[in-house]
Amino acid sequence: MTMKALVLAGGTGTRLRPFSHSLAKQLIPVANRPVLFYGLEALAATGVQEVGIVVGERGEQIREAVGDGSAFGLRITCIPQERPAGLAHCVLIAEDFLGEDDFVLYLGDNVFLPGIRELTDAYAAVRPDAMITVQKVADPAEYGVAVNGPDGRVRRLVEKSREPVGDLAVAGAYVFSPAVHRAVRAIRPSARGELEITDALQWMVDRGLRVQAHRHEGYWKDAGRVADLLDCNRALLGALEPRIAGAVDARSRVGGPVVVEAGARIVRSRLTGPLIVGAGAVVRDSVVGPHTAIGAGCLVDGSGVADSVLLDGARLSGVRGLRHSLVGRDARLSSAPGPHRLVVGDDGRVVIGT
Ligand code: G1P
Repeated sequence: MTMKALVLAGGTGTRLRPFSHSLAKQLIPVANRPVLFYGLEALAATGVQEVGIVVGERGEQIREAVGDGSAFGLRITCIPQERPAGLAHCVLIAEDFLGEDDFVLYLGDNVFLPGIRELTDAYAAVRPDAMITVQKVADPAEYGVAVNGPDGRVRRLVEKSREPVGDLAVAGAYVFSPAVHRAVRAIRPSARGELEITDALQWMVDRGLRVQAHRHEGYWKDAGRVADLLDCNRALLGALEPRIAGAVDARSRVGGPVVVEAGARIVRSRLTGPLIVGAGAVVRDSVVGPHTAIGAGCLVDGSGVADSVLLDGARLSGVRGLRHSLVGRDARLSSAPGPHRLVVGDDGRVVIGT
């Protein structure tokens, strides 16, 4: 049985502004690698080889980052979507690519640990018309919610309802048989004007097709907001193999799982893992970690940072007590006597500790 994958990497990423103003949200790094890469690796681990990626206005960036897919052991084709018109719309425009094959529908900003192999194995064993992934969440109103029978057969799906019908959220990895193509053609746009995949699934359920739920027992996060990205960063840093390829001087202290990439320099600093320092970055007279990803070419000087992500080229100078922060590419943060002087980009958010 051949199985393809359709990865969704369009969308505008409004909840991740200002980062999404200049970067596809699926390329925002966690543990120093674009979120999307973890999904592609998880797909490769299922044995899938052909992957279509639906891209939107930042399609060029995605194309450049993933190339032809060979770095992941995949063959990748990008499928442009003119405007974000819903997850089911993505399936509609990918019909030629998908043909009559079964496929995984994977949302490019979702992270599953240790991956989605259990999902594809369960699908292959049961061969339903569709299989969704579910997990219990504390905030079901933020997600699609599934109501299942005792046999795990899905009875009802409701998309982001203020009064959720249950606490089993639909996670961003689904497996479909070609039966879904009739469903995505039949449904109409939702109240938010999108063709919803939950509506396509409900259409299948209503017609007696077999939609099964698979419970994901591992880690899952939809990295759609800053807090979720930081959470993903923690989870992925926890899975890194410690490795010191860069230079750590004799006056620095390193504890816990730490990755220092080649060309990075650690001078008179204390690193507490899990953390990663990217290639060419310099950490000087600073206290870093835990749960921190310092991107390539960053400078952390006389500063203290934990539980944060610094994108490539960011610079901290004399900034103590930075926590739960996401700092954009080439952004500069420094301290000086006097008032706070901020240059904050459109849709930026700053909380000044007191
Ligand atoms: C989408 C789906 C929703 C699902 C979620 C999982 O929502 O519509 O059913 O629970 O992904 O990540 P979105 O994040 O696109 O708003």
